[in-house]
Amino acid sequence: MSSANEETAKLTIGDNEYELPIRVGTEGNRAIDIGQLYAQTGHITLDDGFANTGPTMSTICYVDGENGALRYRGYRIQDLAEQCDFTETAYLLIYGELPNAEQLEDFRANVRNHTLLHEGMRRVFSGFPPHAHPMAILSAVVGALAVYDKDSADTVDLAQSELAIYRILAKMPTIAAFSYKQSIGQPFIYPQNHLTYCQNFLHMMFAVPSEQYNMPVDFVNALNVLLILHAEHGQNCSTSAVQMVGSSNVNLFSSISAGICALWGALHGGANEACIDMLEMIMADGRQLGKYIDLAKDKDNPFRLMGFGHRIYKNYDPRATVIKEIAHRLVNKYAADDPLFEMAQELEEVALSDPYFIERKLYPNVDFYSGIIYRIMGIPKNMFTVLFALGRLPGWVAHWREMHLAPGKRIHRPRQLYTGHSEREFVPLIKR
Ligand code: SDX
Repeated sequence: MSSANEETAKLTIGDNEYELPIRVGTEGNRAIDIGQLYAQTGHITLDDGFANTGPTMSTICYVDGENGALRYRGYRIQDLAEQCDFTETAYLLIYGELPNAEQLEDFRANVRNHTLLHEGMRRVFSGFPPHAHPMAILSAVVGALAVYDKDSADTVDLAQSELAIYRILAKMPTIAAFSYKQSIGQPFIYPQNHLTYCQNFLHMMFAVPSEQYNMPVDFVNALNVLLILHAEHGQNCSTSAVQMVGSSNVNLFSSISAGICALWGALHGGANEACIDMLEMIMADGRQLGKYIDLAKDKDNPFRLMGFGHRIYKNYDPRATVIKEIAHRLVNKYAADDPLFEMAQELEEVALSDPYFIERKLYPNVDFYSGIIYRIMGIPKNMFTVLFALGRLPGWVAHWREMHLAPGKRIHRPRQLYTGHSEREFVPLIKR
């Protein structure tokens, strides 16, 4: 039952009335706490796609869907993108505060110490056929860390969990870059720990043993902002998957591997790759924007405008605004003759003036323009979602850690409403 002065929601079922506590968040968002609903009423709730249900309270990120705002631990993503680097933002998300100079250097040193993989892991990569999708390789090799780094796999041991956090942050860029090299048949380029996080990743991606690799500073800076903008977004599908899997007390590596798999879907992180595929298809089909807008509106046609719409944002995704500005700058400097960005802007303009999109509050999301930037950086389409995973990693880790540190943490085990057959007599095969 709720305490005397606590605000409650009243529920009447038949002749019985129940009171459910109302929880109020920092920004005034409100939730009805149904933690005792089944015990009190024998009823569960149903909520397709969890559109109305939250599994937890969290202090990590605030997404204002109506006004298109996003804050990490209270800081606006625009400020973090302008003034932070990705490792600083990762520290903020995971530990809750912006690090001072000493804390940041310690954190970076701890991560740098673990960028190499066990040499035996090379056999995991070589087991994949040529042109295997890097997301398949990434999820498999990250999962294999539970074997090779099993001395940091005990979730209940805080010291092991902290070590696992350094290891996954350090090794995922290496695994991602090696996945790319494996898919194109080039030799792996090992991490160089004098480089920054973003420099190291680009070096492992694009350097070859036979030549000096000079990476454009514009690309390092663009990657830094992109990783920050992708770093965290509350209870999205992949973060929710990390928490669901992690709630069983399985190790961090296996939980992150589950998040990578969830992110791969075209409705989630896979949309950045699907969006460029869509733009290239429209371009090849004579830039018939109206045709594809009509297809996107046709309920009988599975075509959707990739990179458009969002479960939470019913306004312009604030990340898309920043990404679009970077894309504009890089296109002007490096790809002025590439018509894709200009067509993408036209497509946005046509959609945002169409009643179907206006009524449903469908705007460009984080995935609509990010692929334009990755293309300019020379990153292949099948690596776009891998970069999303690299960005989202600190958000996954932060929610995993918050869950395990929460008092009374329980395994996630949703209920269901059974609507199948009632009990019936068994029918032997001979009589079927
Ligand atoms: C990410 O959750 C997160 O925070 C995710 C993310 C993160 O940082 O983790 O922000 C990253 O995943 C961004 C989303 C990337 N996915 C896409 O761009 C794929 C295209 N978008 C849609 O599939 C869709 O908008 C979703 C999946 C993003 C959201 O789906 P919802 O919330 O279930 O919305 P819905 O399908 O119920 O759509 C409501 C209406 C429907 O029409 P009606 O039935 O009301 O007539 O809008 C329509 C939908 O058909 N609609 C679209 C559309 N998106 C929604 N119609 C055409 N094109 C679209 N893109």
